[in-house]
Amino acid sequence: MAMVCLSDFEAYAKKYLPKIAWDFFAAGADDCSTRDENILAYKRIHFRPRMLRDVSMMDIRTKLLGTEISFPVGIAPTGFHQLAWPDGEKSTARAAKAMNTCYIASTYSTCTLEEISAAAPGGFQWFQLYIHRNRAVSQKLVQRAEALGFQGLVLTADLPYTGKRRDDIRNGFRLPPHMKLKNLEGAFEVCKMSLLDPSVTWNDIYWLRSLTNLPIIIKGILTKEDAELAVRHGVRGIIVSNHGGRQLDGGPATIDALVEVVEAVQGRVEVYLDGGIRKGSDVLKALALGARCVFIGRPALWGLAYKGEEGLQDVLRILQDEFRLSMALAG
Ligand code: FNR
Repeated sequence: MAMVCLSDFEAYAKKYLPKIAWDFFAAGADDCSTRDENILAYKRIHFRPRMLRDVSMMDIRTKLLGTEISFPVGIAPTGFHQLAWPDGEKSTARAAKAMNTCYIASTYSTCTLEEISAAAPGGFQWFQLYIHRNRAVSQKLVQRAEALGFQGLVLTADLPYTGKRRDDIRNGFRLPPHMKLKNLEGAFEVCKMSLLDPSVTWNDIYWLRSLTNLPIIIKGILTKEDAELAVRHGVRGIIVSNHGGRQLDGGPATIDALVEVVEAVQGRVEVYLDGGIRKGSDVLKALALGARCVFIGRPALWGLAYKGEEGLQDVLRILQDEFRLSMALAG
């Protein structure tokens, strides 16, 4: 089967992954309105293409907090990559490095931070943090990530509790016994999301800043009010995100929330976006509306499910080619 666009990888993953894993990756909260809206919203946005602008040479590189990436698409943090491919996050790290882009490794990885870092030495990696009730566990994770050379700390702000994902409840979703949340092993009984700390507030950004010199990027912002608070608390970047529609159902598509965040921030910090990116033209729309870079969640998992690191590279290469073509055709 020729893999031409990201939907081909989605179809493959749906066909070949065990249903319980597919359902977990695909899940949105409640009616999945926000999950679906993330994608539909792109279809309502149209280009005003310009002609005759010499597009024979195009530079699609960009920089995230000073580090260059080959094109403005990185890999969003998602948990449990071994559900998609046996090598799990190690494959993800290798693919990101091969494509010279940024990989945000999740707290809920099925490989350790050490394994992820060693799989792609010199790769551009950020670490995504969920703050747990046992603050010492979170502190240790942050300090491990910094010591290993991760270059940024991404604090996910939209998950005080896990959203209600109906299929996961119906399936009784849990990790198979041979997979572990390796970064948290020994810290507490694995797969107990209820140990996340729902009492986290903006003040905890100061706490994180006291633990690490890494730049802090906050993920899950959807309003101008929170964007302003993020800037005031000293974050270096904002990821406009609704967690792929897996948390609060009924919130806006991220591409629709982007503009108010960009306007509020006024260039003081970098603004990125994730959610619903499925084509190169989606990337261009997000950049045209003010994002510096976008990140992909589910499409990376589909790439892994197809052929591990090679499959994820295919996904990134297709997005890169489509993005370059959209840029040219839009002038
Ligand atoms: C996620 N997401 C996520 N976010 C995060 O900060 N930490 C995590 O561990 C996870 N885990 C996770 C698992 C799965 C299966 C999915 C689909 C998503 C959210 C993720 O970073 C991102 O916000 C969305 O996936 C972006 O939407 P798309 O690209 O999947 O449409």
